[in-house]
Order: sequence, then structure tokens, then C-alpha cells
Amino acid sequence: MTNVYDYAQNNRDRFLQQLIELVRIPSVGTDPARRADTLRAAEWIADDMRRIGLNNVAILPTEGNPAVYADWLEAGDQAPTVLIYAHYDVQPAELSDGWDSDPFEPTERNGVLYGRGIADDKSNVIITLKAAESLLASEEGCPVNLKFLFEGEEEGGSPNLPGFIRDYKDRLQADMAIIADGGLEKPDEPMIIYAMRGIVAFEVRITGPITDLHSGVHGGSVHNPAQVIAEMVAKLHNEDGSIAVPGFYDDVENLDDAERAEVQKSDMSQQEWDQNVGAPKDWGEPGYSLAERTGSRPTLEINGIYGGYIGDGFKTVIPSKAMAKISCRLVANQKPDKIYEMVTSYIRQIAPPTVHVEFQKHGDGAPIRVPLDSPIVQALSRAFKLHWTQEAAYKRTGGSIPIVAVLQDELNLPCVPLGFSLADSGIHGPNENYHVDMFHKGVDTTIRFLQEIAAASS
Ligand code: BES
Ligand code: MN
Ligand code: MN
Repeated sequence: MTNVYDYAQNNRDRFLQQLIELVRIPSVGTDPARRADTLRAAEWIADDMRRIGLNNVAILPTEGNPAVYADWLEAGDQAPTVLIYAHYDVQPAELSDGWDSDPFEPTERNGVLYGRGIADDKSNVIITLKAAESLLASEEGCPVNLKFLFEGEEEGGSPNLPGFIRDYKDRLQADMAIIADGGLEKPDEPMIIYAMRGIVAFEVRITGPITDLHSGVHGGSVHNPAQVIAEMVAKLHNEDGSIAVPGFYDDVENLDDAERAEVQKSDMSQQEWDQNVGAPKDWGEPGYSLAERTGSRPTLEINGIYGGYIGDGFKTVIPSKAMAKISCRLVANQKPDKIYEMVTSYIRQIAPPTVHVEFQKHGDGAPIRVPLDSPIVQALSRAFKLHWTQEAAYKRTGGSIPIVAVLQDELNLPCVPLGFSLADSGIHGPNENYHVDMFHKGVDTTIRFLQEIAAASS
């Protein structure tokens, strides 16, 4: 038998091949046409779990895509039990979205692999499985009890997972949870995410005339829904970039000076912003740095807006309908339900009498915060110190993982997010990518992390 790090090193090519295999399965969780592929990804994971020696492997159904569960509880009663969460569903992708290669045929260019879901979140699925495999196959053995929970609906807002967690409360009981989804800013700077924004997402649908109308015959007598949606959306922000919905900022926790200064340290440089964003100029709530605006302040974004004819050529119509997809990022102590009420009633209030307004909610999740002095964060910090050249920086991230608040509140689990994709990995966009080096570094760091969790509790 070999040492755990030698095992990981000796098997690194196979591990990487497995990542490539999983990325080839187009598990777009929200696309009904990809349902079979999504199930195939769950099967692929369950097969690998069995192969590496996990027990009680099960594909557990939900109303939507199933969750994959497995455990290994042979480290003994004294050893801590660590729940590892990740998601195997990915965002949609089409070559025509601007990809330079087939999104579901991972392609390497200069040490970087391109493919949908490779960064978010399949690399972290494989990293945690391969860390477990290495520990289980090594002479040291695995020092902690493990429970894996890989879901297939995260990118759709995890609509069925809160109920699932309540149903399987006993099976999921653990001492702490690693949220294997997230990333780093730079390849050689370890980083611990200690806060994540919450989210509430919904659609607003505007209906005017009962059908699309000839814009010559009827133009001049109808308030055009495409115009109405534009007028309404324009009222959601103030001139200065702040959110115009009354009460929106009421519950927002303001950072104390010390934390503000800390957050400022990881502020993006203009050059980094240009590289990752590339718009002519930045924009946002006045009085806050880029890091604050993307980490510790709430936002309201128009994710999509649609109305009328946008196909080839021209069609002189007054559309019957128009709609916008809107999401708000929330920070402590904002409550998703309260914000949803507030924003939708404001939208109703500004809607003109010429249209009907309907809403459809698309899921939500509360903001989370991780206590820096919790044993799980301390163990991660030591793991980084042992495997990387620098101390970890602490950072707030702007993204959301809806289920984390549920794991914290319902299962009482101290959680920490951990992932090894980089800020420029282009998650959710075309040419999503992943640095091959980060994959191997991720496996080693995760092994060390689990060992440090065990060391701290013995
Ligand atoms: N992994 C991301 C969230 C994330 C992004 C964490 C960057 C840390 C850094 C996750 O898969 C995601 O995209 N979540 C969605 C949730 C939404 C669909 C409810 C998000 O944040 O938009
Ligand atoms: Mn993710
Ligand atoms: Mn995502």
C-alpha cells in the first residue's frame, strides 16, 4: 500500500480522465431534453462511488433530478463525520453561444481544459471523490467518516432539496459540511470563502392586448407591453445605481470598519476588472468598493428581458406579452421572502393600468456566513498553509448556493465552501474552463483538509 499523496500522484492521469468523462455527460439539470443525460451523470457518480469503496450508495429520487448519496462510516465513533455537498447539474451551453470548442467535449489548450460544468461544479465532484478514493486506498486510511450528497438541481435553485434534507435528516446527520462548490481568485493564493450572498429569483410577465396586433392598424391606441416592461425595469434602480425599491436596504447588515478594511484588501484592480468584465466602465452602488459591491452589498439584476419580435427581418407588431427575469442577491440579514414581497409589490405599484402583471418565483436561498473560529475553517486554513506557500485570505463571494442556509439551520452543520476553479474560469458563460494544475492541487488540499479535520478532533 502507498502513502496517500503518492496514490493521488500515481493516479492523477486517470483522475483527470474521469473528470473529462463526467464533463462529456451534458447534465443540464433544467433542460427536460437533457433529463436522460442528467440521470446518466448521477449513475456515473454512483458507479464511481461503489468502485472506490463507499457504502450505501443510492440514487435518491426527488420531484426533480435525484440526489446521489453514499457514505463511509468506518473511521469509528470517535472520528468526526463530514458531509460533502456538490452538484452534478450544469448550466445550459450551445456551441453557438460563443464557444471555441464543443462545450461537452472537453478540449485542452495550454494547460486549460474547456467544457461546460468543468469549473462549476464537476471538478469539485471529482476532486472530493478522488480525495476520498486516495485516503481509502492508502496505508494511512481515511481518518474521518464521510457522507456524500451530490444534487442535480443547484443551477435551478435547488427547488426540491430543502424538503429532501428534511426527509433524510437522520441519514444526513454529520458534524460539519464541506460545500464543494466555489473557487479561488488566483492560482497560487489560497482563499477561504466565509460569506455567500443569498438570492431570490422571479419572472415578471406583462400582458396587454389579447394577441399580437398590427402596429399600423392599432399603433397609437395600445400601451405596448415591450415598452411597458422597459419603463418598469427602468424604475427599479435610481440614477446613481442604488436600488429604488422602498425598504430594500432596511435589513442590510453594515460591515464594521475592520471588516470593511479586510474586504478592501481583496478588491479587484482596474486591470483585473477589465480582463474579466471588459465593459467600457464599471457601475454600481456609490460609496462602496468593487469587492464590497460584489460581496457584501445586495443587488437587483435583470437577467433577461423579452418582448416582441426579435427574429430575422422585421415584423411590425405590437406584442401581446413581454417579460423580464429578475434576481436579487441578498446579504445578511435580508430574508428572501420579505424581499420577494417588497420587490413584487413595488412592481405591481409601478405597473400602469394598461397591462396585467403576473409573477412566477424561481427559487431562493438565504445569505450565509461562516464563523471564522469554527474548527472546520481552522482545519481548512491549516490545510492551505501546509500545501500552499501562503496563508489563506478570507473573502466574501457574491455567488449563491441556496442549500447552504438549510444545511446550517436544519442540520445545524458548520459549513465551509471550497472549490478550485479560478475567477477567470467563466462559469455560466461560453468557454468555461479549468486549470489542470488546480485539479491536482485540489485533490491534495482536500486530502489534507480531511486529515486536519480528524487531527483537530482527536
Ligand atoms: N457555484 C455557484 C455559486 C458560486 C459562484 C459560488 C462563485 C462561489 C463563487 C453556483 O453553482 C451558482 O451558480 N449558483 C447560482 C444559484 C442560483 C441558480 C439559484 C447563482 O449564484 O446564480
Ligand atoms: Mn456551483
Ligand atoms: Mn453555477
